Amino acid sequence: MGKKGTPLGIDIGGSGIKGAPVDLKGGKLATSRLKIATPQPATPEAVADVVDQIVDHFAAQTRDAPIGVTVPAVVIHGTVLSAANIDPSWVDTDAQALIKKHTGREVTVVNDADAAGVAEVHYGAAKGVPGLVLLTTLGTGIGSALIMDGVLVPNSELGHLEMDGHDAEKVAASSIKDKEELSWEEYIERLQRYYSMVERLFSPDLIVVGGGISKEADLFLPHLRLRAPIVPAALRNSAGIVGAARLAADLARHA
Ligand code: BGC
Repeated sequence: MGKKGTPLGIDIGGSGIKGAPVDLKGGKLATSRLKIATPQPATPEAVADVVDQIVDHFAAQTRDAPIGVTVPAVVIHGTVLSAANIDPSWVDTDAQALIKKHTGREVTVVNDADAAGVAEVHYGAAKGVPGLVLLTTLGTGIGSALIMDGVLVPNSELGHLEMDGHDAEKVAASSIKDKEELSWEEYIERLQRYYSMVERLFSPDLIVVGGGISKEADLFLPHLRLRAPIVPAALRNSAGIVGAARLAADLARHA
């Protein structure tokens, strides 16, 4: 543990809120993470309480080091602007101010997929890849991160492109595979159309696929026909924590 304390990453998800101090050199959790069930309903106040518990738990290691927090929504300068898969009361919440009120600490709040993308670019499947990297997370919804030569273009929200007259995430997220009991063949057909559309629009150099289903990447990625290489995320379920801490630390350095 350094004199200055270790940056903390906290990932707010639908079922759990997870946090850990992050070793930014190695892009790894510095100690094992703490996971607390997401309160129901997951209102901003209730969630900020849990974030406070996590901040307290790691206070000795983090001291006054930067803290990054992810939410599964559009976040502009700390304020949450959408709520596709979270409690609607988050819309227009200044999450940064709210968490500061609960924890007494300055925090940086970012979109969950943006954090995961930053983690993959610095430490994972997109490390050292020049040009445009697109990360998508397939889970309850579809999250996305666009990163050009290491610089994040935040809140790309490519899960909300239109597909078959719906938000793409209502057609091609992995939760839909489960809900509609799609076979791999049926699901791959949807993913093919989704990624072809994204590739037509953005022409990325590399596509990285995260989310729980990336554990089974062998079953679907080799079947997708795209120009860009498409690879599974490397950091798996620590990507949000690592990326949030990295973004918070980068911001603090440039402040
Ligand atoms: C939200 C995104 C989020 C994604 C993954 C989408 O419904 O609009 O902000 O990144 O889900 O959690």
